[in-house]
Amino acid sequence: MPVTTVTTIAELRDRLDAARAAEQRVGFVPTMGFLHEGHASLMRAARAETDVVVTSIFVNPLQFAPHEDLDAYPRDLAGDAALAEDNGVDLLFVPSGGEMYPGRMRTSVSVGEVAAPLEGHSRPTHFDGVATVVTKLFAIVGPCRAYFGEKDFQQLAVVRTMVRDLSIPVEVVGCPTVREADGLAMSSRNAYLTPEQRAASPVVHRALRTGVAAIEAGATDPAEVRAAMAALIDAEPLAELDYAEVVDAATLAVPDPLEGTLRLLVAARFGAARLIDNVGASVGATAEAASTEGSST
Ligand code: PAJ
Repeated sequence: MPVTTVTTIAELRDRLDAARAAEQRVGFVPTMGFLHEGHASLMRAARAETDVVVTSIFVNPLQFAPHEDLDAYPRDLAGDAALAEDNGVDLLFVPSGGEMYPGRMRTSVSVGEVAAPLEGHSRPTHFDGVATVVTKLFAIVGPCRAYFGEKDFQQLAVVRTMVRDLSIPVEVVGCPTVREADGLAMSSRNAYLTPEQRAASPVVHRALRTGVAAIEAGATDPAEVRAAMAALIDAEPLAELDYAEVVDAATLAVPDPLEGTLRLLVAARFGAARLIDNVGASVGATAEAASTEGSST
């Protein structure tokens, strides 16, 4: 089926209301475009579990700070439409800036402590921008199953919290991170990497796996795990560490001593590209179970 591009809120609502009236389930994959295999995996999950799949492409100005890469953010609408069609998307929602934000925005959604550490610390206005646009997109799309990647683990936690707190009629589905063969997590921002930076970038995933290995070897001091990850990033001259952290996967707080189900997260800068990645681990897991988790996420 060819993908249909819709640019107005009114038309998208009409089509999705009609689908729901005909007892069809709606699957939603929000994106900022420059689509890759990570986005495609979300589309395929939506295709498998729902009847009408809608993907949005909107580079949301609210989630970029003034000094960040809003204007440089890569765009390729023709390539995106082809990828969406190949992965079973029915409707591509591509609103203009004016359609989404016709006037000054006075309302903002702020999610509290889950949004505060890590990305929230490095990018203080980011998650308000994400929560606000996702709330708006959910209000436009209506009741649906919405698919998000674990690649942006804290974003997934923010969206789950917001949906629960505000009783938004959306079922949030988290999907595993898709990686290049050498471990680099796929990201639209990988396009910023020079060949030398691209060659160095798998150090982020190696650092995460080193952190998992430290936990498997019995480390329960979060500082020891942080240091093990930071040492690898610091040893790479093309990388500049932003943070390397280990947190409780549900609360994103740092347990000390480490216990339960954990998430290890790293952010590092490679020139113009700021890369983020994360993997899971658990204290008391067998080495085999933890390493499976680490490699599949
Ligand atoms: P974007 O970065 O385009 O990502 C869209 C979705 O794709 C997010 O849920 C993200 O986690 C997921 N994704 C990205 N890379 C992935 C990978 N390698 N494996 C699996 N999933 C991956 O995240 C955003 O856009 C925006 O913040 C948005 C939610 C659309 C709000 O503007």
